[in-house]
Amino acid sequence: MAKRILTGLTPSAQHLHIWNYFGALKPTIDMWKNNQDDEIFLFIPNMHWLISHHDWQFIKTATINIVKTFIATWADVSRFFLYNQSDIPAHAQLNRVLTCITHMWFMERMHAYKDKVANWKSNEVSVWLFTYPILMAADILLYDADIVPVGKDQKQHVEFARDIAQKFNKKFWPTFKEPEAFMKPNVMTVPWIDGRKMSKSYNNFIWLLEEEKDLQKKIKQIATQTKTVEESKNPDECNVYNILKLFLNQQEDENIRKRYLDGGLSYKEVKDYLFETVRNFLQPIKKNFEEIDDDFVIDLLQKNAVRANEIANKKIEDVYKKVWFNLK
Ligand code: ADP
Ligand code: TRP
Repeated sequence: MAKRILTGLTPSAQHLHIWNYFGALKPTIDMWKNNQDDEIFLFIPNMHWLISHHDWQFIKTATINIVKTFIATWADVSRFFLYNQSDIPAHAQLNRVLTCITHMWFMERMHAYKDKVANWKSNEVSVWLFTYPILMAADILLYDADIVPVGKDQKQHVEFARDIAQKFNKKFWPTFKEPEAFMKPNVMTVPWIDGRKMSKSYNNFIWLLEEEKDLQKKIKQIATQTKTVEESKNPDECNVYNILKLFLNQQEDENIRKRYLDGGLSYKEVKDYLFETVRNFLQPIKKNFEEIDDDFVIDLLQKNAVRANEIANKKIEDVYKKVWFNLK
């Protein structure tokens, strides 16, 4: 049966990095390739962004760039449905309703919140940071999504969406579909050189549009162990391999793993291999990106907002009835 697959990438930086691609975008594309009757909903969660940034020019270009990157990595726009969250007021409406039935203790368990609080200064921690999984649940439930491809850090939020859907369905009347998170096991979270996950928030990433010289510099900086060339090495313990493996097919992966284990592979050689591999991967994306016009993106988002509003309004009308906001 055809499924609706939905995911969003917050425009918190001007571009996407390779883990946004491997963590969210590629699993979405791959899933669709397996069943081309599935529908793909990709949206820009710009209301999630507003809380921590307030620069209008930033959000405009970041939104356009991210949509362009979606298109550049996947070329045929007719195969997926792209929209901008703030064009659809029902996200905020449903967020409000769900907030009223969410308990504090439930939100207090969220790892992403706890991690950020541990790393941020207290005057950077907003109420939104605490409640954003509720808006995320609204983003998912409004569209009856079946599957939500995300990285490991977001899995708990999708489970929350499922829990709150169940709770609403039980408390009021069956209304929401219960979504499932989808994660590719080998890309659940890939650490960068500093051991943390690659993240726009930590400034430790490779952009999907990375300049070659910066790419080379970043790859050079990846920390490795201190084994000699001759020594056998465990690929799974090597930061370079953990990034490289994402780009390789099965045969290439087997070959390089063997070379690690056999000994005779230098860290320089494997870093050069990583550089070549990533460069070849990024080249067509960069080229496609340059060919997409800003106005094309703006028109597309405006056009798609009509259909997104139709779907979301139908759901919010139903919700309003169920919670007796609509007295008819
Ligand atoms: P960032 O942490 O860079 O701000 P986002 O929060 O916008 O990235 O994440 C967008 C998507 O990309 C999410 O589904 C997230 O789980 C995935 N993602 C981000 N970083 C990683 C990573 N290092 N490994 C796996 N997936 C990731
Ligand atoms: N919170 C997600 C992130 O930081 C982005 C997001 C917002 C999202 N709403 C969503 C992802 C709904 C999937 C579905 O990555």
